[in-house]
Amino acid sequence: MARTDGDTWDLASSVGATATAVAALRAMASQGPDAALDDPWADPLVRAVGIESFVKLVDGERSETTDSLVTPQSMTEQMVVRTRFFDDFFTTGVAPPTTSGQATASGVRQAVILASGLDTRAYRLPWPAGTVVYEIDQPDVIEFKTRTLEGLGAKPTGQRRTIAIDLREDWPSALIDAGFVTSLPTAWSAEGLLAYLPPEAQDRLFDSITDLSAPGSRVACEYVDMSGLPSDWAEQLTERSQRMGATVNLAELIYTGERNDAADYLKALGWQVGILGASEAHTSNGFEPPDDDMVAFGANYGYLSATLK
Ligand SMILES: C[S@@+](CC[C@H](N)C(=O)[O-])C[C@H]1O[C@@H](n2cnc3c(N)ncnc32)[C@H](O)[C@@H]1O
Repeated sequence: MARTDGDTWDLASSVGATATAVAALRAMASQGPDAALDDPWADPLVRAVGIESFVKLVDGERSETTDSLVTPQSMTEQMVVRTRFFDDFFTTGVAPPTTSGQATASGVRQAVILASGLDTRAYRLPWPAGTVVYEIDQPDVIEFKTRTLEGLGAKPTGQRRTIAIDLREDWPSALIDAGFVTSLPTAWSAEGLLAYLPPEAQDRLFDSITDLSAPGSRVACEYVDMSGLPSDWAEQLTERSQRMGATVNLAELIYTGERNDAADYLKALGWQVGILGASEAHTSNGFEPPDDDMVAFGANYGYLSATLK
């Protein structure tokens, strides 16, 4: 079903199912004795949502495909790189360890995970004492994850606070009502989110993050040079994911119209922006560089992190 202004979903439908898809990849990357990730909650969360194609993926039943993008290895490597990037962003940006292993007093103690989906960082990262971790996503997504993890006996490792709201609505007021302190520096992540927001909502998101951020705040998201993408990139992406067995129609969920470049937009708002290219991100994790034509259709892409000056 095509997107509409006030559309809603749970973790088995529409945009919500994309959160389950990426959790399935984290579950796959967390399997076995030499697992590249350690997300113990991804597997039970995916099973609890119950989308058959994703349960099959985590069970090792994968569609036969000759597309090198969607081999189990290439899929999990991409997710490993992405997960480690955001993990590192929070653990080094929020709690830089000193030589004695203690978090420094200057570390950021307020984190906001935008579009948190089935992200379990609030339950598995070593947040220093006193860190408040806000998670924002649609109400059904927040409610399902909270209830399922509680049933599994998972305990947050930081002070987890949830804000069940659509990011096209007035989420800054809801965040402040939940106790967010604008005078403290904050670490923000927007992982797997931007393409699901209309272009103007992406701009508003960065405007709001900036308004709410004290100097020294940091933000991280994926980066794609949209000008380098072919016009049918969303359709191509859908075909690829369906060859892997996914039933989600990404082309219907993504806003493909022209949008401001995230790096340029943040720079204009006063952020100091750095981009870690995908090739470097992969090689620094011990993986071969991904084939850019296969992964991002030849466009420059990677991971963006920025600090508010
Ligand atoms: C691809 S998933 C990524 C989830 C999570 N960040 C991760 O990487 O595992 C996209 C997420 O964005 C959320 N999302 C997209 N648009 C949203 C909106 N307008 N308001 C709230 N959440 C939204 C979805 O509910 C979903 O959880």
